[in-house]
Amino acid sequence: MSEAKRLAAEKAIDYVEDGMIVGVGTGSTVAYFIDALARIRDRIQGAVSSSEQSTQRLRQHGIDVLDLNATGPLALYVDGADECDPHKRLIKGGGAALTREKIIAEASERFVCIIDPSKRVDVLGRFPLPIEVIPMARSLVARRIVALTDGQPVWREGVVTDNGNWILDVHNLRITDPVALEAQLNQIPGVVSVGLFARRPADVVIVGGEPPQILD
Ligand code: 5RP
Repeated sequence: MSEAKRLAAEKAIDYVEDGMIVGVGTGSTVAYFIDALARIRDRIQGAVSSSEQSTQRLRQHGIDVLDLNATGPLALYVDGADECDPHKRLIKGGGAALTREKIIAEASERFVCIIDPSKRVDVLGRFPLPIEVIPMARSLVARRIVALTDGQPVWREGVVTDNGNWILDVHNLRITDPVALEAQLNQIPGVVSVGLFARRPADVVIVGGEPPQILD
């Protein structure tokens, strides 16, 4: 699958225009994108990064990492996903970077999602849904999730997000109305963000292959 990830990432370079500040996601597919972006680094102003991991890789390549508060809205955000449905709605957060990813997606005019073919599903939920929680609310949020859904929340023990929070992964969901579930879970006190990108889905999905498939 890593070759498919690389092919998707390379194709996403077509969406980068001269002078842009590029929003950059997190994960192994995005790592290929950062490597490809490095080849055209003189053509862009810099990047806004969704994680410490991506920031480190961007800086290693000599790409300036800018603060979203200083840049204002972005024209382009490129990120991977753990699952993608036919409406370009996503599950994200396998790499625990969902909150900053969601912020950058919201700030961006165009969200280009880069995936390998294994990430495509008809109905979201096969991949456990990540939820970032304030540590003291972990048990409360887990109990509310059990009451509200058919899913089983599991604490991703030992993982602390870049924001100092914890992750619950909700297993065995079949998400038939992702927009409603996203809104419902967002209401639980202690939830920082939900790894469902349904209210703000991807605009373009690039599925890596020879040739890459574009869903827009
Ligand atoms: C990180 C993410 C990633 O985009 C997602 O986990 C996909 O990762 P990869 O490209 O390594 O398969 O949401 O929080």
